[in-house]
Amino acid sequence: MKRIDSAESMQRFAREARAAGRRIGLVPTMGALHEGHVTLVRRAAEESDAVVVSIFVNPLQFGPGEDFERYPRDLDGDARRLASLPVAALFCPEHTDLYPRGFETAVVQDDLSTRLCGAFRPGHFRGVLTVVTKLFGIVQPNVAFFGQKDAQQVLMIHRMARDLDLGVVVRAVETVREPDGLAMSSRNRYLSPDDRRRALALSRALRAVEAAFDGGEHRGDVLRSTLRGEVEGEPGVRLQYAEVASLQDLRDVEQVAAGSRALAAIAAHVGTTRLIDNVVLGGRGRPNAGLF
Ligand code: PAF
Repeated sequence: MKRIDSAESMQRFAREARAAGRRIGLVPTMGALHEGHVTLVRRAAEESDAVVVSIFVNPLQFGPGEDFERYPRDLDGDARRLASLPVAALFCPEHTDLYPRGFETAVVQDDLSTRLCGAFRPGHFRGVLTVVTKLFGIVQPNVAFFGQKDAQQVLMIHRMARDLDLGVVVRAVETVREPDGLAMSSRNRYLSPDDRRRALALSRALRAVEAAFDGGEHRGDVLRSTLRGEVEGEPGVRLQYAEVASLQDLRDVEQVAAGSRALAAIAAHVGTTRLIDNVVLGGRGRPNAGLF
């Protein structure tokens, strides 16, 4: 595995790989890698000849008072973990390389960025779409892989790639869970043992809403209150949102039409840690985790 720390060298590597007819698969990350990332890498290796993993904690996507400063960083540990995987290059640029003085362009989606997490994290998706566009420009992937846990993120990136004709195939990969159901996340390492136990309310709520949906309940408000009911009773867990939303525009659905799908998504603070999780109702067994 080659370690590349400048955009210029990364672009050279990408140009040479593509000239040699290799298909590049990109796994963009902010590091603090876990089994969810490992799954993305393995999936990328199935569909490409040169897997590139990027690690960059992107300041543009953190708001004031969020966890940019304390976000877990362990570049050497991450590199060791990746060395045993089918990774051709690790791209870990410096801040000034991606955002040199005078940088001012951004990518925005006006409507989708105000839904779900966007309602509570203004500017977050502008930061995500901007850095992912830059990574696509630098790494020149044929295909890029994102986890379903960040469902809104991958839906928006998929839309962006289509709207802007970026020529990158976007894949969503099913959420990887701990044996007790907790969705894997770099932020889980913030949880105290008590919070770790309380955090299970999120996956429990999603299982309950999935069971209700599979049992024939398709009314949006009933599904939403099923989601809320599981989380609201849990001490130490502060619900931010619990929605059943359309996969097209992320707005609340009144009724999930027969044969269609919807996103059941939840965000909550567990202690001081903000966690998100989701399931795609009616999406089991479909490509791209049922998202698109
Ligand atoms: O999901 C993440 O880790 C980040 O949002 C991403 C896609 C790497 C952009 O910084």
